[in-house]
Amino acid sequence: MSKVIFLTEQRRASLPEIWTGDLPAAGEPVRDLRARPLRDLRISVTDRCNFRCTYCMPRDVFDSHYTFMPHSALLSFEEMARAARVFAELGVEKIRLTGGEPLMRKNLEVLIAMLAEIRTPSGQPLDLTLTTNGSLLTRKGRALKDAGLNRLTVSMDALDDATFQRMSDTDYTASDVLRGIDAAADAGLDNIKVNMVVRRGINDDQILPMARQFRGTPHVLRFIEYMDVGSTNGWNLQDVVPSAEIVARLGAAYPLAPLIDDPMGRVAERWRYLDGAGEVGMISSVTQAFCGGCTRARLSPEGQLFLCLFAGHGHDLREVLRGDQDDERLRRRIAQIWTARGDNYSEQRSAATGQGPRDAERPVEMSYIGG
Ligand code: GTP
Ligand code: 5AD
Ligand code: SF4
Ligand code: SF4
Repeated sequence: MSKVIFLTEQRRASLPEIWTGDLPAAGEPVRDLRARPLRDLRISVTDRCNFRCTYCMPRDVFDSHYTFMPHSALLSFEEMARAARVFAELGVEKIRLTGGEPLMRKNLEVLIAMLAEIRTPSGQPLDLTLTTNGSLLTRKGRALKDAGLNRLTVSMDALDDATFQRMSDTDYTASDVLRGIDAAADAGLDNIKVNMVVRRGINDDQILPMARQFRGTPHVLRFIEYMDVGSTNGWNLQDVVPSAEIVARLGAAYPLAPLIDDPMGRVAERWRYLDGAGEVGMISSVTQAFCGGCTRARLSPEGQLFLCLFAGHGHDLREVLRGDQDDERLRRRIAQIWTARGDNYSEQRSAATGQGPRDAERPVEMSYIGG
């Protein structure tokens, strides 16, 4: 839906030049410099969270003096939905809402209902999903499902309460999160994934208990290698438990076989239990980079478009969304940014340090841009 806008001379003068490069043919996704199509959009709806996971929002940094973004800076739901509609025209098929904790944004179901109305050029609805810490799901699960959410990913790092609280630095317990998962499943959100970040010596003794908890359920547990995102978590290569080790440890108790998937757009390597108790996933960004198939764009709460989790800066879309500018300008701006993308941070990591070449600027925090 494009609208014709008459701009004053002064406004017109302040607009960036419109990009005149080639747009993809109708129905085709826009591709970056490595021929990766734009397929996934992750929208971070808030930079706030009610947990203080030590690897993401360490309390000594994210304390009462920390300045979160003011509400006026955040994109409105209308702005997000408009951006999503244009992203869908350029190839996006899946939208994941993230945070911070996305359920801390008031009335999130209103945004979900707006996104559920969007269609891709071939007439398909978007795959709509959300990453949450699970603490507010007992209250919100049903409203999310009724609004049109298709599925859900819950972060949960331990089954044992002491370990859970050591990882998440919260008063919520592992049982609270399990209750949230049950509430969401009861509400009909039947495609649930559970993400566990593994840190050596802190929660790696929870690999087997967590696997036991979710084996034989429809929920898919995925183990995530702890990553060097942001600049506040004091990341160290020694803290990482490589996925190959997790497969060996888990497989010794419950034999596993790999499932082969198309690498395009994929994050997790899938494994099935040989006894038929379901499957698990390994997300190995540190030891086996998956940048070659990275089809993900990330929109920050204030409308900055990031092309990589490890990028030092974003590209401002809010200016285009907030000005009286038509959809054609927005479409061209997004296509311009994506066609110039070459990011592949994880592929450039050094074997010695486990870190890649950093942008001179401060890298973006996970709580700001979402996982
Ligand atoms: P599905 O749509 O359910 O398949 O989700 P997904 O596979 O896209 O995974 P999800 O969004 O649940 O991401 C899980 C975790 O993988 C995140 O919390 C990050 O830790 C990591 N991750 C996701 N996307 C990227 C990425 O583009 N780069 C890197 N390095 N890590 C990522
Ligand atoms: N490394 C890996 N995963 C992380 N997440 C947050 N910080 C990190 C990190 N440093 C994950 C959380 C959650 C999602 C929002 O991002 O576990 O699943
Ligand atoms: Fe919050 Fe998720 Fe970050 Fe933990 S990992 S502090 S739950 S945003
Ligand atoms: Fe994509 Fe960057 Fe992650 Fe590579 S490191 S998979 S380019 S977000």
